[in-house]
Amino acid sequence: MSPFLLTRTLPEDATDAALRADVLKGLTGTPKTLPPKWFYDAQGSELFEQITELPEYYPTRAEREILVDRAGEIAAATGARTLVELGSGSSEKTRYLIDALAGLHTYVPVDVSESALTQAGQALVEERPGLDVHALIADFTRGMALPDTPGPRLVAFLGGTIGNLLPAERAAFLASARGLLAPGDALLLGTDLVKDEKVLVEAYDDAAGVTAAFNKNVLAVINRELGADFDPGAFDHVALWDTRNEWIEMRLRSLTAQTVKVPALDLAVDFAAGEEMRTEVSAKFRKEGVGAELSAAGLELAHWWTDGAARFALSLSVAR
Ligand code: SAH
Ligand code: TRP
Repeated sequence: MSPFLLTRTLPEDATDAALRADVLKGLTGTPKTLPPKWFYDAQGSELFEQITELPEYYPTRAEREILVDRAGEIAAATGARTLVELGSGSSEKTRYLIDALAGLHTYVPVDVSESALTQAGQALVEERPGLDVHALIADFTRGMALPDTPGPRLVAFLGGTIGNLLPAERAAFLASARGLLAPGDALLLGTDLVKDEKVLVEAYDDAAGVTAAFNKNVLAVINRELGADFDPGAFDHVALWDTRNEWIEMRLRSLTAQTVKVPALDLAVDFAAGEEMRTEVSAKFRKEGVGAELSAAGLELAHWWTDGAARFALSLSVAR
């Protein structure tokens, strides 16, 4: 069997310090917020996989449709020998790319979720003899050192995860992604598109309550890691469409007036009845906006593909 390597670029104590800093800042700010990368412990990654199968959650199916249709074109356009995937999760859709890239030497999945990386990486080396898998536990919003593997390099950022970054974070992210590309390399970016409000809201507030459980999982992470006493049952999941920013905003609404203790931060946080705390945004895009953001980061849009119903887009861009 070919090698599966897992490299931790985030020391565990640095992760711990980052969680403390993020939670302190978020819970003492007005309005309160919680940062989304902490959703993805093992339980969060598992809940996310369930989200991808919900009838209301169309983005995974739409992006898979594009990959099935276009993997051959993407392979021909890039000739990638190294595929780097940021926020790779289960790497499930990535298999279409891996299959199409005839000369692929190494797959580098990058994620903060160690459980997702281990599961996906071990399955892949068994399924694809000859493929090297070098997984990185890393935060894609920070700089990261990639392993020294043969080019050309294709950097994939799928699932619409770029929409979970705020506009300034997005600009910084794209600039750093640009920095990972040498001449001849490319960026494959998945973006969910602006569409009917009802379709969007239902995708983030499903009837079975899986997205609600995913949103509340961040409270369980804070309870476990920082000894807090959040009662997930004392908060409601809220998903709303922000027309001006063109993003879905997810919040947790405190059902009652309550005080939550966070011993590791020496903090007691008061919530008013009905007070809402923002946990995550999921921005939706238009082709012109994606082109402009890429361009601002020194990238040039080379291909734009959508699914048949034009719900989701994959774009391929190159360094200018
Ligand atoms: N690409 C997969 C998973 C998308 S969910 C798909 O399309 O289905 C987003 C993934 O990004 C999760 O696996 C999560 O653990 C990871 N993630 C979120 N924030 C991250 C960060 N700052 N750095 C690295 N990975 C992150
Ligand atoms: N990036 C995807 C999206 O915004 C997946 C995702 C992230 C998600 N956080 C989520 C999906 C919360 C549902 C709920 O759609």
